[in-house]
Order: sequence, then structure tokens, then C-alpha cells
Amino acid sequence: METVETDVLVVGSGPAGAATALALSTYGVPNVMVTRYGSLADTPRAHITNQRTMEVLRDLGVEDQVTALATPQPLMGNTVFCTSLAGEELGRLRSWGNDPLVQAGHELASPSRMCDMPQHLMEPVLVNAAVSRGTALRFHTEYLSHEQSDDAVTALVEDRLRGDTYRVRARYLVGADGGRSRVVENAGLPTVGRMGVAGSLNIVFEADLTHLTAHRPSTLYWVLAPGATVGGIGAGLVRCVRPWTEWMVVWGYGLDAGPPDLTEEFARSVVHRLLGDETIPVRITSTSAWTVNHLYAESYADRRVLCAGDAVHRHPPSNGLGSNTSVQDAYNLAWKLKLVLDGTAAPALLDTYSAERAPVGRQTVERANRSIGETAPVFEALDLLSTSDPEQMWRNVDARKDATPEGAKQRQRLREAIAAKVYEFNAHGVEMNQRYVSDAVVPDGTPDPGFDRDPELHHQPTTHPGAKLPHAWVVRGRERLSTLDLGGHGRFTLFTGIGGGRWEEAAAAVRQELGVELATVSIGPGQEYEDPYGDWARLREIGDCGALLVRPDNHIGFRHPEVSPQAGELLLGALRKILGHG
Ligand code: FDA
Repeated sequence: METVETDVLVVGSGPAGAATALALSTYGVPNVMVTRYGSLADTPRAHITNQRTMEVLRDLGVEDQVTALATPQPLMGNTVFCTSLAGEELGRLRSWGNDPLVQAGHELASPSRMCDMPQHLMEPVLVNAAVSRGTALRFHTEYLSHEQSDDAVTALVEDRLRGDTYRVRARYLVGADGGRSRVVENAGLPTVGRMGVAGSLNIVFEADLTHLTAHRPSTLYWVLAPGATVGGIGAGLVRCVRPWTEWMVVWGYGLDAGPPDLTEEFARSVVHRLLGDETIPVRITSTSAWTVNHLYAESYADRRVLCAGDAVHRHPPSNGLGSNTSVQDAYNLAWKLKLVLDGTAAPALLDTYSAERAPVGRQTVERANRSIGETAPVFEALDLLSTSDPEQMWRNVDARKDATPEGAKQRQRLREAIAAKVYEFNAHGVEMNQRYVSDAVVPDGTPDPGFDRDPELHHQPTTHPGAKLPHAWVVRGRERLSTLDLGGHGRFTLFTGIGGGRWEEAAAAVRQELGVELATVSIGPGQEYEDPYGDWARLREIGDCGALLVRPDNHIGFRHPEVSPQAGELLLGALRKILGHG
């Protein structure tokens, strides 16, 4: 049987696989990406693209392409709760960084803006860039199994077009094969939770809904429709795919009964029910059934097999974390693979992938599932759960208009219940506060600073080892750059300032000794980069002459508050530890 050789075999071309291939090719690592089907995602699926992901895409050189295609942040702004799009509005929540106070937090946190980038538009950007930088992509190619030896992993794949099988022998295999991952199953990764918590239907359609939506621009319109299902309330979601003409409805079904027959007539009836106006012309373009899951892997790796994305964290779309977490997994993994493959790092560096990302995956799964439960108070505030009689439900909804103490109480309860959904629709901290603890992070003896405000809602920058490098605008001549632009690029970066010459000398020696790519950046008056606003000085938590060692993924690996006569030894020791050599 034919055997193809490569450094990394990536299974899957979704956000996790495509981002892995893109990062690997950007870093010059030979890789083959196989994907079961003959095309990329053909439906919108995941869409919320948060700031951390945009920062990753910025470093990988595709941020501008994504921004050009995405719906911009201001049009994502209101999460609407209503009885139908044409019906009564129950309330709105300023979402996705569009609350003025949260917006300031977004501006301060990152050079990148959140946006709405449907998956069928995102995947081609990632995959095209990956292929143009060297990824060998094979469509119609299904991973079947793998076996590992001391120095390689050999996968058996099937060319579904030709109907034959061949082997791909790689140094490492990345299992990014989604929520039904065969790689995870074959690798025997331990998982916690369960699949199939609830059933969901996606109905993608075209309709001009400008008159119902453009005055309250949003990505999400939640419809609480009394009597929409037999003997109960129907809660559905109308999601904007392209303003204001392409849409997707998400509608539940009972798992016991199984998904309904997804005829065009059925799909159209659900859409019209949520729109609240049967005269609106609607063209159904696709339907699909999927399940809400609550499952995460406790470990993402088995020797030479490393898994990413939905393969290792499966959860509902709430909080919009699915593809974001997948892209961020890839970014954490790719530089480690590069350094292990080129011999700069020991294989132990790859153990830190699971140590750093599995806690994030678990948090993502728990948060997304908790957000579903936190919608119940909206139903309770409207008194929709006390009866199954649709007429009574409507009376209960109408009671919020009464000029009575009960009516006032109901109005208050509803406002509070909608406001509490901020944990799903404006959770900036969940998106940005990842702080890693692993052997690829060198503790500096100070405790983690914790959080001054709610860590799920607010981002708190810090240079504590393990945290993401804080963003500050600095300048070089007339050019404005983010500190994040100075780091990244697949290499380590040492940040220092006036009086930090010893650190720069240490960096030169370490570069020589370890053969590691290590850039140096000095920020301050008269240095290559200046800090005109004083933002960097406020954020860096070290003195002018101290040092921050930033990893290729723009997380802090090591810091020292001031200049030290032992700068050389300290930096060498830190890098050796991060690279798994000591
Ligand atoms: P993803 O599932 O995207 O990709 C897996 C890849 O692996 C695919 O390319 C597939 O072809 C390939 N593959 C699988 N098995 C293979 C094999 N044996 N051999 C070779 N290739 C194989 N999220 C959200 O936030 N909002 C939403 O509305 C939705 N809606 C939604 C609908 C549907 C139908 C699905 C399937 C998923 C969603 N999601 C979603 C979830 C979201 O799409 C998901 O979180 C990300 O796509 C995860 O990216 P991954 O790359 O990990 O998996």
C-alpha cells in the first residue's frame, strides 16, 4: 500500500483543522490536511468571532480578509427578545461589546475588533491561506485509523473518490475532526459529560427582513412564541447570516421523538411562525438537525496524536465559543509542534498543550451549557412556565403592561432577567482572560493577581506569567502598532525598555546557545518603539529595565521586574524550561 510522508497530518478542515494547517504552513512546517467531504462547510454554523480569535488571525496575516467579509461589530449590537419579529418586543440587550462601557473595554483590550463571520465564509479564508503557504489539502479523504511507533504515527485514510486506502506517515497527527471525532475515539482520550442533551434544527433561508431588523441591528433575535408547539411555548432563534437578507432559524426538537421530517413546508412554517408574518417571501436554502452536547476531554493528547476543536470540547452555540476555542487551540499547538519538529524544543513541550488548553475547553463547555439554563428566568418573568394553555400564556405576557403593582413587578423581573443574559452575550472576560499554568510558563514567585471585577464579564490584562501579553498602542515614527504586533510571528520576543541593555545582550547569547528565534523589543523615549500615551508603562507591571519574555502565541512565558546581573542565566534558564530542556 502506498505511504505518503509528512511532518504533521491534520484531520479535518473546520476552524480547528484549517487554523492548525494555516499556522503550521505560516511557520514553515510541512503538513497534509485531509477532510472527509468534497467541500468546506456549506452552512453558516459558527459565526461570533471574538477579539482573541481576531488577534490570532491578525498574527497569522488574515485579519483584514476576515474583516472585509464579516458583519462588523456595530451591526451585532442588540440581542432582541420578542414574541415574533413582526410581533411584540419584550426587551433588548446591548451585546457583543456594543454596550458603551463594554465597548471601552474592547477598545482598550485589543487592536482587533470582534465581528460576525459565518463559518462557510471563514473556512475558505483559512484554508486558502493555508494552501497558498504550503498545506497539501486532500478533499474526499477520510481518516480511518492510526497506529503509533516511537518516532511516527501512521494513519490509514480512504480516498472516497477512488475508493482505495493509503497510509500517511507523519511525525504528529492533529485530530480536528469535530464533534464525532474518530481520532479521539481511536486515541482513547478520556472524556467527561454526554452527547445529545437536546435536539436542534437549523433552517437557513433568504428573506428581506430589513423592515423588521435594520432599526435594531443584531446578530440574534430570540423569539418566545406562546403556543408555537403543541401545548407549549416555542422558543426559537432568528440569526442574521448577512444583513438583512440571509438568515438562519434555530428551533428545538424532542430527542425522544427524533428530528421531524425536514420538508420545505415544515421549515417554511417554522420560519413564518418566528417571523410572525406569513406574507413575507421566504426561500429555504438548507435544513439540518444537530444535538446540543455537554462533553469535554480531560486530556487532548495521546503521545503523537493531539486533538483540537469540537473533537475535545462539545457544547451548544451559546456565548459563540465553538470556532473561537477551536482556532485558539490551533494557535497554542502550532508553535509547539514547530519547535519540537525542528529540534529546538524537547517533545515535553507538547505536553503543555493539553495542560494549557484542556482547562479552557472545560470552561467553555460549562459556560455555554450554563448560559442555556440562564434563559429560564426570562420565561419565568413572563410567567410562561406555569401553564401550557397558549391563551393563558398570552394573557401572562400581556400582564407586563398592567398599571398594577404586579405589572410593575413583572416589568422589573423581565428587565433583570434580560440584563442577566449579559453572561452569554457580553462576556468579555470569558473570551479574553485565559491564563495558562504549565511547564511552558515560568512562575516569578508572585501570586496570580486574580480579578478586580467579575472575571467572566471583564477582561483584566496582566503580565503575570501565563497571561496574554497586554495590548497597548506604541509608535515607531509615524507608524502605530500594538504590542501584540511586536510579539507573535512564530517566534519568542523579549520586551524591555530603557536600561534593559543587559537583557538584550542576554537575548543574543541565548539565541546563540539554544538556536531559538528570539526578537528583542525596547519601548521608551528614544527607543525603537515609544509609548506616547504611557499605556505600556501602566500595563507592563515591570520597571523600565525589566524584561518580559513573550512566547510565539503572545502569552507571557517569563518576567523579571528589573535589570539583573544574572540576566543571561535567568533568560537561558527560562527558555530552557519553556522548551522542555530543564
Ligand atoms: P468542525 O466540525 O467544524 O470540522 C470537523 C472537520 O473534520 C470537517 O472538515 C469534517 O469534514 C472533518 N472530518 C470529520 N471526520 C473526519 C474523518 N474521519 N476524516 C476526515 N475528515 C473528517 N456553532 C455555533 O457557534 N453556532 C451555530 O449555530 C452552530 N451550528 C452548527 C451547526 C452544525 C450542523 C454543526 C455541525 C455545528 C454547528 N456549530 C455551531 C458548531 C461549530 O460549527 C463548531 O464549534 C466548530 O465548527 C468547531 O470546529 P472544528 O474544526 O473543531 O470542527
